[in-house]
This record gives sequence, structure tokens and C-alpha cells, in this order.
Amino acid sequence: MKYNYRGMTIYVEKDYEAMSKAAAEMLLSQVREKHDAVLGLATGSTPIGMYQEVVKAYERGEVDFSKVVSYNLDEYYPIQHDNDQSYHYFMKETLFKHINIKPENTHVPSGETKDVEKTSQEYDNAIYGLGGVDLQVLGIGNNGHIGFNEPAPVFAKGTGLVDLTESTISANSRFFASIDEVPKKAVSMGIATIMTAKKVMLMASGKAKAEIIAATILGEITPDVPASALQLHRNVTFFLDEEAAAVLLETLK
Ligand code: GLP
Repeated sequence: MKYNYRGMTIYVEKDYEAMSKAAAEMLLSQVREKHDAVLGLATGSTPIGMYQEVVKAYERGEVDFSKVVSYNLDEYYPIQHDNDQSYHYFMKETLFKHINIKPENTHVPSGETKDVEKTSQEYDNAIYGLGGVDLQVLGIGNNGHIGFNEPAPVFAKGTGLVDLTESTISANSRFFASIDEVPKKAVSMGIATIMTAKKVMLMASGKAKAEIIAATILGEITPDVPASALQLHRNVTFFLDEEAAAVLLETLK
């Protein structure tokens, strides 16, 4: 089902697989329309199914990434890029090594830099220099974070170092050997950086995301729910499965 709410487009798909396919179609259309598209990419478990669909389309010869450029949302800090929990590693294993994107055209914030401020500013300048990415992919944390922009008194502007909340550290500990190994900080694109994207797509799946999705789309625009800033974006599409859309649909129906 497709809904429109205050200028936002919302697709509610039956399950995770259908949501992944619909989201992949949007990403693939972007690359087919513009061969040198600039993609803003996300990690987390939610987009994995979409990336698998993208890889399948590439293997079928339906899409060419040779001119595509990418900027990822975030990275833990500090972390070595060959650490299998780093987002550098995740992107390489999940997507980059399976398609013909040029490694030099892929960008992920550095978890190794000594000067986070300088590299963050360079990261933003590169994105601003492009006039924003063409299509930004987002997941959402249980607390409404996008990238690693946690609930805070004010919206984070540009890319920079952020402290992870206990809730995010605990949610992400499932990927690490123990909770003590989860880095306590990250480098993340800021909300202002994300808002420069020409198009934004946010994916969410499962019951655990139902409340935060309703708050993101229907609630107050507040830095307590960082994703609510997307209500101010002029071109945003949500890809939800029925479980993630459950609370939202009580109001939209
Ligand atoms: C991490 C990432 C986010 C992601 C979130 C949700 O914290 N920094 O970009 O959206 O997790 O992850 P998942 O999709 O696994 O629920």
C-alpha cells in the first residue's frame, strides 16, 4: 500500500522481503536514471536485504555502478577499518565487493583518523560540494536515531564525533563478542548533512520500530526523535513492513 502524509511518501509492504525489494527498486531506479549518481548509504541489519536485491540486479546485468559515488552515514570511533565490526568492513562485504563500484568512489567516515574534526569537515565539504547526495538511504534506531545522531537537546548539524547512548550500545552489542567491545563513540553525518540530500529513503522493519516510526512521521519535530527532522525534507520516502507500520496505520487508516 502507498500512503501520502503531509508530502511524505510511505510504502507499507507485507514483510521484510517485500520491503527490501521495493526499497532496492528505488535505489536501482536512481542509478539507472543517473549513471554517476551519488548515493548516501546506511549500515545496520535493516538494509541488508535491499543490498542483496541490488547485488542480484547487478548480477543479472540490469545496473552499472562504474560511475556511481557513495558516502556512508557513519562509522564507530575509534575502530580499525579491517575490524569485522567496522562499517567499512560491513559495506565491503555486504555490497561493494559484489558490484562494480570503484573502491576509490566509496567513502565511509574514518574510524582511524587522529583528527576527527578535520576529516569530518572534509567529509561535509565534499558532500556540500556536490549539492548533497542524490539519494540518501537511512535505517532508524529504536530511539529514533538516524546515522548515529542520538536524541539530544538540539539537532546535530554537520558530520562529527558523537557519544553513543546506552540504548544504542546495548542494541548494537548483538554484533560484538561482548557489550564492552562496542565503541562508545562514532563519527556520523549530522542532521544538516543528511537534510542536504536531494531524496531520502528510510527503511524500517519489525515490531520494535513501530512506535518510533509513528513518532517520526506523526509526532512533533524534535531532536528527542532525530528522525522527525525528515518531516521538513521535501522528498522523503519510507519503506516499512506491516509490523513497523502497525502504530502509524492506526492513525493513517
Ligand atoms: C545503527 C546505525 C544506524 C541504523 C541503526 C538501526 O546504530 N548507525 O544507521 O539505522 O543501527 O539498525 P538496525 O537496522 O540493525 O535496526
